[in-house]
Amino acid sequence: MRVIAIDGPAGSGKSTVARAVAKRMALRYLDTGAMYRAVAFAVLRNGEDPADHDYAARTARDIELDVGIDKVMVNGVDATIEIRGPEVTRAVSAVAANADVRRELVSRQREWAERNGGGVLEGRDIGTVVFPDAELKVYLTADPEERARRRAKEVTDLDYETVAADIARRDALDSGRKADPLVEAADAVIVDTTGMSIDQVVDEIEGLLLSVEEQA
Ligand code: DC
Repeated sequence: MRVIAIDGPAGSGKSTVARAVAKRMALRYLDTGAMYRAVAFAVLRNGEDPADHDYAARTARDIELDVGIDKVMVNGVDATIEIRGPEVTRAVSAVAANADVRRELVSRQREWAERNGGGVLEGRDIGTVVFPDAELKVYLTADPEERARRRAKEVTDLDYETVAADIARRDALDSGRKADPLVEAADAVIVDTTGMSIDQVVDEIEGLLLSVEEQA
């Protein structure tokens, strides 16, 4: 099974890069952040509190989830747009800090890879927790200002200051939580994407993969 783990903070370019790597390598792609967002979406949709530990854990276990490249279905509802919206983005950190939610989603991520003979998985804990034996672990990062600029371009309805504050808040929550915090795996290759184009980053990862293959 061939697994490529791509981790890193918000705005580091993970999604764009992971998709492009999967395409070039003819591998499947999984956005694990979309899974945490989907659980937050389902909790909010039922009018419940994302910080309610047991409710969120039950939701994660019961949720019918179909995370595709361009479409995310949650309990039969197309949630593609809403899982990226401000409400879910505000709620998702509480859900992602829930150890029982994580246990369930990590097991679904492993099943997904087994079913597909591996793939490119993108998230915060892929190289540290989900697939510690991944063939290649990449930790993408970039200056906070550049990450905020990239996000501000994507979400056209929010100004730079708001996006920068949100990124700083999520960085602190993702890195500071007890359950599987965002950290570089000891054997991850750190790629600082500040000032790099997508193509440059993808080329670099392709080069890393080739050298891993040569060593094997
Ligand atoms: O990558 P993203 O912004 O869509 O991730 C949404 C949230 O989920 C973010 O707060 C971090 C969390 N997350 C996580 O804890 N573990 C993952 N493997 C992926 C995302």
